[in-house]
Amino acid sequence: MDSKPFPEGFLWGTATSSYQIEGAWQEDGKGLSVWDMFVRKPGAVWWEQRGDVACDHYHLYKEDVALMKQMSTKAYRFSISWPRVIPNGTGAVSAKGLDFYDRLVDELLASGIQPYVTLFHWDYPYDLYCRGGWLNPFSPDWFADYTTVVVNKLSDRVQHWITINEPQVFVAEGHLVARHAPGLNMVRKELLQVIHHVLLAHGKSVQAIRANTKLPAQVGIAPIGGGRIPASDSPQDVELARLKMFACGDQPYWSISWYSDPIFFKQYPADGVKACEGDMPAIGPNDMDIIGQPLDFYGVNIYGGRPVTSKNEYVHSTDFPDGYPITAYNWPVVPSALYWGPKFTWERYHCPIYITENGLGSMDWVTQDGRVYDLQRIDFLGRYLAQLQKACEEKVDVRGYFQWSLMDNFEWGVGFQQRFGLVYVDFQTQKRTLKESAKYYRKIIEANAVLSPSDGESLLEMVAEL
Ligand code: FCB
Repeated sequence: MDSKPFPEGFLWGTATSSYQIEGAWQEDGKGLSVWDMFVRKPGAVWWEQRGDVACDHYHLYKEDVALMKQMSTKAYRFSISWPRVIPNGTGAVSAKGLDFYDRLVDELLASGIQPYVTLFHWDYPYDLYCRGGWLNPFSPDWFADYTTVVVNKLSDRVQHWITINEPQVFVAEGHLVARHAPGLNMVRKELLQVIHHVLLAHGKSVQAIRANTKLPAQVGIAPIGGGRIPASDSPQDVELARLKMFACGDQPYWSISWYSDPIFFKQYPADGVKACEGDMPAIGPNDMDIIGQPLDFYGVNIYGGRPVTSKNEYVHSTDFPDGYPITAYNWPVVPSALYWGPKFTWERYHCPIYITENGLGSMDWVTQDGRVYDLQRIDFLGRYLAQLQKACEEKVDVRGYFQWSLMDNFEWGVGFQQRFGLVYVDFQTQKRTLKESAKYYRKIIEANAVLSPSDGESLLEMVAEL
């Protein structure tokens, strides 16, 4: 097999989020989240499935940390369930809820795995939703107070913090098209106000981390980072892709720059401001300074990207050709997104990057011999990581990579239909099985290099060597 090295000290990890794996939805005094409610709406989730139990990670976390260790991963990105820690979203803290994360962090550190804690990965406290949710002008302060509670408890051991996961997705899917919790259909003016509060919440959370941390903290955020890729290497296509990647338009909910320019440049992007005239949020005199807190890293979640070409006179995006490779989730397989995404992002924001998510849903099952042969995942990983390695070689400052996901879990609106894990989970018995891709990932980590079949070698032969 061929091997191409990653920079020394490159961090290899896996990622999950609280609602998708924990289960224990009503245990030890946990409050309700908007997801606990959303999954109970008829027709909201595929086959009416729910994350009530999910991977039962709340009880099986030790086994799960042992699996991470078996894969030689060095870091684990997980999120904290806000209503588990503060059942009503504000006020009384649940000691038992906090204690779960305390034990998890200890278990990770005892296994030599660095915790990367995401403070918000979409399971918003239901009580706060009833008080107006992200439209409420106090919502940024609620988030800052919750941050302080968590940081006080864990920052003697946790050094890496991610404030918010993919604001684009919970804003647009949850508040515009209602495919995610809380299932709202807002108009633009409301959406832009929600986003402004989310950004303020991020800024205040960064301040709360820095003010309360016991160990020196590294702080970042994890928005979506895939975007546009040039359809060819021509300088025109590259330039156009770069422009399109950070364009806003008049519906900037999915854009990268609407969320990230305020953080790095303390202003909303001019093209979006112009296009959204009349619907801009109320911006207080200190808001942009609060939002623009300096960050130590920028996390990007990249699954794919859309090719851009100057030949297309309509939207400058080509459609994918018929029969183009797609995952089980119908997401086009675009390995070069892991080259162009970090490259364009680094050029624009100049902040050290982590790939905080990347992976695919596939139709895995346990075969007759008890193993899970997820060749597609192995091929996907090899192809995507080769592109990331190329970005690193060209001095794009990428510090680490987190595979989504450690294990199969509850995939939001499509329930358990999509299996994104390196570890297979039987949701009836909770039995975990390392997929073949987990063995491949371990090899990659141990070599600190992307491994691919050498000329003439078949992927199957390579897998047999794992
Ligand atoms: C991302 C989410 C993550 C997971 C993956 C597949 O958008 O952050 O929770 O659902 O997609």
